[in-house]
Amino acid sequence: MKRVWVMRPFHDEAIYNSLKQKFEVDTWDDHKTPPHDVVMQKAKECDAFLPEGIDIIDAEVLDGATRLEVIGNRAVGTDNVDIPAATRNGILLTNTPGVLQDACADMTFALLLDAARQVAYGDRSIRAGKWVFFDQTPYLGLDAYGKTLGIFGFGGIGQKVAKRARGFDMRVIYHSRSRKIDLEESMGVEWAPTLADLLQQSDYVSLHCPLTDETRKMMGAEQFAMMKSTAIFINMARGGVVDQPALYEALNNKTIARAAIDVTDPEPIPMSDPLLTLDNVVITPHVGSASEATFKNMGLMAVRNITAALTGGAPETPVNPEALQNR
Ligand code: DGY
Repeated sequence: MKRVWVMRPFHDEAIYNSLKQKFEVDTWDDHKTPPHDVVMQKAKECDAFLPEGIDIIDAEVLDGATRLEVIGNRAVGTDNVDIPAATRNGILLTNTPGVLQDACADMTFALLLDAARQVAYGDRSIRAGKWVFFDQTPYLGLDAYGKTLGIFGFGGIGQKVAKRARGFDMRVIYHSRSRKIDLEESMGVEWAPTLADLLQQSDYVSLHCPLTDETRKMMGAEQFAMMKSTAIFINMARGGVVDQPALYEALNNKTIARAAIDVTDPEPIPMSDPLLTLDNVVITPHVGSASEATFKNMGLMAVRNITAALTGGAPETPVNPEALQNR
């Protein structure tokens, strides 16, 4: 019987039950990411992995994976997996695009409005006993309506963010690997030819790109210096897209006004990270897609992908279908 390793114990029962109907299911019993040596061993004992998007499956694991056939990532991001190593070892990788777009776009707006109107800051102030008389001036916000939102990465999530922004009467500009002229008219968005154009024009900059060799540390001191001093920076992508010390400097020196980030580098962010000393940043623990329904639906999609791959079917969302030629 094929064996599936579910790399966390916290999924909905439907996920375990669906897998158990067809496979032997081995579940890692800790909420933390499994250690590297355990991942190495499981790749020799199991036919499929169901990891979270932060569980590192590197070339060492994949080159030694004598049994592993498929990795059904419960994430749209795939930067946790060494894809060339998976491909050369004939190991299929699948992800969960589409199903999480609305949840991620909602969270982007939660962060955007939080940073704009200092929601978490106000809450922190009250809990610290600082609300002792009526004075709105420390909490004055920035408007969203009428302002320009610059979206970097105009895939499914970026487009859903644009849709919400138009509802908030924002002007939307975007930059992406490819220009999407058809969407410009239908969605009322404008193309920014370069990242620099996007950064210079935007009151809000929101990242929705994958972490790749091209995007790694793409936002550094030079890029923050191009932004308006009143601008708000939002990162819903991956912590690695940003040079985090440069973000700290930009916020501390008021090169930019504020930031709202759902992802950090590393994760979890260490309590010693200087970003945590700043009042003009709000940080959430990588929960962009994590509504109850979307959490479950991403898991079910990963299960469908794994089931198809192990039973000779066609997975819905293969990332490296060419891997099958190397079996
Ligand atoms: C994703 O789906 O990539 C989310 O960031 C969770 O890892």
